[in-house]
Amino acid sequence: MGLHRPRRTGHGSSRHGPRQIAGAGGLVALVGTLGAGKTRLVQSIATSLGADRRLVNSPTFVLIQEYEASPPIFHCDTYRLRNVEEFLDLGIDEVFNSPDVCLIEWADRVASVLPPDNLRIDIDVTGPTTRRFRIESGGPKSAAILSAARAAMEAM
Ligand SMILES: Nc1ncnc2c1ncn2[C@@H]1O[C@H](COP(=O)(O)OP(=O)(O)OP(=O)(O)O)[C@@H](O)[C@H]1O
Ligand SMILES: [Mg+2]
Repeated sequence: MGLHRPRRTGHGSSRHGPRQIAGAGGLVALVGTLGAGKTRLVQSIATSLGADRRLVNSPTFVLIQEYEASPPIFHCDTYRLRNVEEFLDLGIDEVFNSPDVCLIEWADRVASVLPPDNLRIDIDVTGPTTRRFRIESGGPKSAAILSAARAAMEAM
């Protein structure tokens, strides 16, 4: 699925937020270079699920953050992790096996231990103020989430 939207993400109301990108138990794997817009997309998804936008930023000291939302959201930025073991030590398996939403920045760094049924979003920087989002599902659950998201976006 290719998306090219000049409109900036992260400033929409919950009505326009990409809520369907994160269905219950959904795992979103965000991939993109420094400054591609991973955190901005997390802010947009989290806000659309009811999280307080001010709390959503790149976890610097905490490697994983939880936001009160419906469903609850876990946000992990793996940039500072030294290896995959440190990622597993966060107890991330528990999140994977829960109905909570899990959003992971730099997911390519921990791809080897991610459940394959994840929604992978590659963000390409196409210009100073433009981004291309490529979204791919890795299994039945993420495929269902992607179909719902596609239907919602087509209805916009
Ligand atoms: N969808 C977008 N459209 C246009 N510009 C964007 C978009 N998303 C983010 N940006 C711009 O890119 C900057 C960096 O965004 P963000 O911090 O979300 O990137 P990141 O991928 O999380 O970076 P890092 O690799 O440092 O974690 C933002 O301050 C904003 O100016
Ligand atoms: Mg970030």
